[in-house]
Amino acid sequence: MQRQEAQKRIAQLNSDLRRHNYLYYVKAEPEISDLEFDILLKELEQLESSFPDLIDPDSPTQHVGSDTTGDFITEKHQRPMLSLGNTYNADDLKEFDARIKKALEIETVTYSCELKIDGLAISLQYENGYLTKAITRGDGIQGDVVTENVKTLRNLPKKLSGNGPNQFEIRGEIFMHRKGFEKLNSERAAAGLPLYANPRNVASGSLKIKDSKEVAKRPLDILLYHYYGADIIFPSHSQGLNEARQWGLPVPDTSQVCKGIDAVIDFLKIWELKRHDLSFDTDGVVVKVDSITQQEELGFTAKMPRWAIAYKFPTETAKTQLLGITYQVGRTGAITPVAELEPVLLLGTTVKRASLHNSNEMQRLDVRVGDQVYVEKGGEIIPKITGVVLESRNPNTPVQPFIERCPECDTALVRNEGEAQHYCPNTRLCPPQVIGKLEHFIGRKAMDIQSVGSELCETLYRSEMVKNVADFYDLQEADILQLERMGEKSARNIIDGIRESKNQPFERVLFALGIRYVGETVAKKLASAFQDIESLSKAGLDELVAVDEIGDRIAESVIRFFENSENQYLITRLVNHGLNFKAAKREAKGIELEGKIIVISGVFEIHSRDELKALVEAHGGKIGSSVSAKTTFLLAGSGIGPSKLSKAETLGVPLLSETEFLSLIGS
Ligand code: IVH
Repeated sequence: MQRQEAQKRIAQLNSDLRRHNYLYYVKAEPEISDLEFDILLKELEQLESSFPDLIDPDSPTQHVGSDTTGDFITEKHQRPMLSLGNTYNADDLKEFDARIKKALEIETVTYSCELKIDGLAISLQYENGYLTKAITRGDGIQGDVVTENVKTLRNLPKKLSGNGPNQFEIRGEIFMHRKGFEKLNSERAAAGLPLYANPRNVASGSLKIKDSKEVAKRPLDILLYHYYGADIIFPSHSQGLNEARQWGLPVPDTSQVCKGIDAVIDFLKIWELKRHDLSFDTDGVVVKVDSITQQEELGFTAKMPRWAIAYKFPTETAKTQLLGITYQVGRTGAITPVAELEPVLLLGTTVKRASLHNSNEMQRLDVRVGDQVYVEKGGEIIPKITGVVLESRNPNTPVQPFIERCPECDTALVRNEGEAQHYCPNTRLCPPQVIGKLEHFIGRKAMDIQSVGSELCETLYRSEMVKNVADFYDLQEADILQLERMGEKSARNIIDGIRESKNQPFERVLFALGIRYVGETVAKKLASAFQDIESLSKAGLDELVAVDEIGDRIAESVIRFFENSENQYLITRLVNHGLNFKAAKREAKGIELEGKIIVISGVFEIHSRDELKALVEAHGGKIGSSVSAKTTFLLAGSGIGPSKLSKAETLGVPLLSETEFLSLIGS
């Protein structure tokens, strides 16, 4: 590139990046993704290295953005709050590893791998056991003092419960769980207020509210990821965090110590999928050299530590045209608007459709048919529309109204107060709702009728043989034989499968009924608290919410379900068919696992993992997802990961083999 051209481009990039920094840090309303930002930043870095004399001293490559607003006192950090270098693939990580090995002159590096939580960074100071100060990242050198606001966070101890050092600093991320975010947005929608774009933006906005009483109303959470000792220093980063957990601080238990970069890459692969099960957003993994001595040896560049790097889960954005909007009706009658797109390639697959979630989201994006839209895809999740190219919209394009009637059965849609979703209320006759309910009923975690399957559900419904779940139990072999391409053997098999399902326990039957908000876990809780359908159906709000993990929303839904006379009739029929509507008495065998947390990992010989899970629960124990200090023991099969083992070892969590476990519960 010619010098003159470079000068122009550098000036443009400087001003664009500064604007994006302001939008991200101060307004918390970013217009571009992190990846797009990084691409612009990289371009500027490359140009600056070719033309070093053109570097603007105020260039975004020279310092991080700032989140200070002028509403709070600012204070200098004890040590700068730096950012991290980003990588997007395993090769970059291997290069990072190679650099470290070379610098340290060692063969294998031990890393601490942590989820990169998508919120905002905060630095906390504790003195003599008390939280004394909380400062936002600001520009990395100084930030806003927001102590009173941070003190409103429910899961952050204002006083340590264990014996911590007299003085230390600990850093972490303040964020909002997706559920809390959705609830907040539906409240805003109901109040006619503009909606927030994502949990990160709300978290960041909330912390900058001047009145901490208002902040307290926001469902903010915090997880800590970096301990800086003053009077006590631990030899490794992970050890510092494990200790901090013992003092009662919220340190995530998803982190893992990995020996060598291959173990790090395994960790990334696992979380690339598993992250969707988390209740909050994570956009990557932070990989840190675990040894503090090694960290010190590696040191820092002007902007970031040399001993840490952020791996971002893959996402890709593309621009395409919105051809139309269709609407899907789910099992519960929830209506989901779907963007029909001009096919476009994203992360190696052709994307033709993307979810628009609900009418709030459609309004927020202001998408209109014919628009050029940005589509983003991360990992294997459903692609989403992240924005509209307003400049290229034809000014005559009409606003897209949400449909008013069900596309499947033409019933007028309803929208409950405070909810973002529209529903078709015709639960009994709207075809996708009925078929969805049948499919849910036979599902693996519900009645587990494998001989039926989804396709047959639809056929049985379309041929008017099964219109509700009780009709399954009226079916005869002769009915099934009337269906096309159906042999006697298959017909018998289907009827046998349906009959056998009558042995399923109460909790599964309850789950299979498909009561809104009653998932597998809630069904278990309800079954064990009320013991039979009779008591459950008579339970009032107070009795229901007295059950662990049952809130108003679930309780109201249960009450509504049992008030409905069609549901009452359906249950009567199922009772008459002999399904289990009473909980089996828990057999008191072996020792009770009450209050114990058991992590199951590996492959087993006698039982499947699901069976072992059921045994633990039948004996009153709880299943933990990963080994932590709270784990009672690790039930270990063959092929268990070395990192899990070493974690158990470090934390002193005992290992039990399958046979040891079985004899423990006297089985
Ligand atoms: S370590 C010098 N660990 O990501 C160490 N950061 O791009 C720098 N973040 O400002 C931070 N989860 O807001 C670290 N487990 C984690 C993190 C994490 C999220 C954020 C943090 C930081 C940004 C760096």
